[in-house]
Amino acid sequence: MNVLEAIEGRISTRAYLDRPMEKETIRKILDTARWSPSGVNTQPWQVAVVQGETLQQLSQTFLDRAREGVKPNPDYDYYPGEWVQPYKDRRFQCGMDLYKALAIGREDQEKRREAALNNYRFFGAPASLFFFMDKRLGTGSWLDMGMFIQSVMLAAREYGLGSCPQASTAHYPDVVREALGISTEKLLICGLALGYADQSHPLNQYRTVRESVEAFSTWHN
Ligand SMILES: Cc1cc2nc3c(=O)[nH]c(=O)nc-3n(C[C@H](O)[C@H](O)[C@H](O)COP(=O)(O)O)c2cc1C
Repeated sequence: MNVLEAIEGRISTRAYLDRPMEKETIRKILDTARWSPSGVNTQPWQVAVVQGETLQQLSQTFLDRAREGVKPNPDYDYYPGEWVQPYKDRRFQCGMDLYKALAIGREDQEKRREAALNNYRFFGAPASLFFFMDKRLGTGSWLDMGMFIQSVMLAAREYGLGSCPQASTAHYPDVVREALGISTEKLLICGLALGYADQSHPLNQYRTVRESVEAFSTWHN
């Protein structure tokens, strides 16, 4: 697969086949992603590959917490406290597109809640990768993490695998650290659902929109 195709054809996959992956495939993906750039080659990424029973137990704990009304307590604020334009509209559109694909109406709060909870099931993916970073590092390392995670998503495409980055599976970082025996010195950046996409599912059959190049670039000679 060429690079342009890999980038343009990647979508957030939110429905997966019940088909296991070879551990070796995941290892190969990480073996490619490790060539991502990072400031002064710090390579801040730490990855936990979670499958099987451990994944099921994490899923159950997330769902229990959410149903008990335990407030998410992520290691950082991904989103602003107050949304401003144009991001507010884009966020709204993103949600509307997703609910439209699921044929869930605006007023159907119960179905929306259930759809959101599906995050905690990793959308049925057989694996989740959790990305951690040493908390003693600086803000620049967050850029490195993003580049690494994108590399993982693109490399996955070479093996016919779909993925979905998930800030939601970092809602309860202490649960993840404890389950995986990871030090509190490591920040949980996000999870990534990984597996073979269920191409027939409506959730995998729509595309999010993007601004044109003209809208986000200025050119200077
Ligand atoms: C760091 C990060 C965290 C995300 N977290 C979630 C999430 O928790 N749940 C979800 O359904 N999508 C999540 N997404 C996916 C975005 O909604 C998605 O990338 C965006 O709508 C663009 O759609 P596309 O990925 O299909 O191109 C996340 C994306 C990123 C980059």
